[in-house]
Amino acid sequence: MSAPFSSTSANSAPTVLVTGSAKRLGREIALALAAGGWRVAVHYKGSALEAEKTVSDCAALTPGAALFQADLSDESEVRALLPRVIEQLGTVDAVVNSASTFEHDNPASFGFEAMDTHMRTNTGAAIILAQALHAHMDARNRAAPDKVLDSSEVHSGAVVNMLDQKLWNQNPDFFSYTLSKAALEAATTMLALALSPLVRVVGVAPGLTLTSHLLTQDKFAALHKLSPLGRSSTPKDVAATVRFALENQSITGTTLLVDGGQHLMRFERDFSLM
Ligand SMILES: NC(=O)c1ccc[n+]([C@@H]2O[C@H](COP(=O)([O-])OP(=O)(O)OC[C@H]3O[C@@H](n4cnc5c(N)ncnc54)[C@H](OP(=O)(O)O)[C@@H]3O)[C@@H](O)[C@H]2O)c1
Repeated sequence: MSAPFSSTSANSAPTVLVTGSAKRLGREIALALAAGGWRVAVHYKGSALEAEKTVSDCAALTPGAALFQADLSDESEVRALLPRVIEQLGTVDAVVNSASTFEHDNPASFGFEAMDTHMRTNTGAAIILAQALHAHMDARNRAAPDKVLDSSEVHSGAVVNMLDQKLWNQNPDFFSYTLSKAALEAATTMLALALSPLVRVVGVAPGLTLTSHLLTQDKFAALHKLSPLGRSSTPKDVAATVRFALENQSITGTTLLVDGGQHLMRFERDFSLM
């Protein structure tokens, strides 16, 4: 058996970078991983106060959590992010790509600007972080050039890409967002092949899990019930699935849908516009 998450740093906990983890689902994922013994690198863009709270809450569960700010639509900031985490924390074992731009457009209003914004943050950044994790794993394994590593000493890691049940149940709302997640789903397959055996790549696709400013609580509660199971996903279900995907050594190149079966139904509009 390989030793996927054996850190070489002083801190023996495996380390995970969770993008967009200041609040909402990203925070829930960060806390679930910290509760499971992961040291969490909390990334945020603008929500500094919430991110500091996530760091202190994660650190109370597993020491060593740290804070990293970056705009993931800027390629140079994305390329610098994992090296910054490695410099501060020593090693990284996994990345959860949860940060996401979610702005409304449709085929009538579609333009390059919306496409570019969504593709940079939701697709391009996730791919570059997976690429960087693979390079880091490769470097860790080459760190002992005079020694032939046996399989129990080979370092390997994992990436989880947050997708959306919408990809299996499409409608034209949030057109650029959906395109960016469709591209990320395809990238999950291709990266799983390209980065194996050092890095596994898994998609996790929630259903309607958290409300937004576009929905009242009552409307959200009613829509959450619209699924074969009578409930969509909860933040805890989603976070537990991310942890499972990171820790299960046999999963790569596939997506776990966590949505109460919403992807089996047909919705003419996005939930927020129903
Ligand atoms: N919530 C749901 O019901 C649901 C359903 C299906 C799929 N998902 C997926 O699950 C993931 C998490 O969902 P969520 O609702 O928690 O996401 P969210 O609230 O829409 O966004 C999460 C974070 O992404 C960060 N972000 C946005 N643009 C960024 C940029 N250019 N650079 C860096 N960070 C940026 C923001 O960080 P700051 O606040 O720090 O600026 C934001 O807090 C997403 O990938 C989403 O597509 C969610």
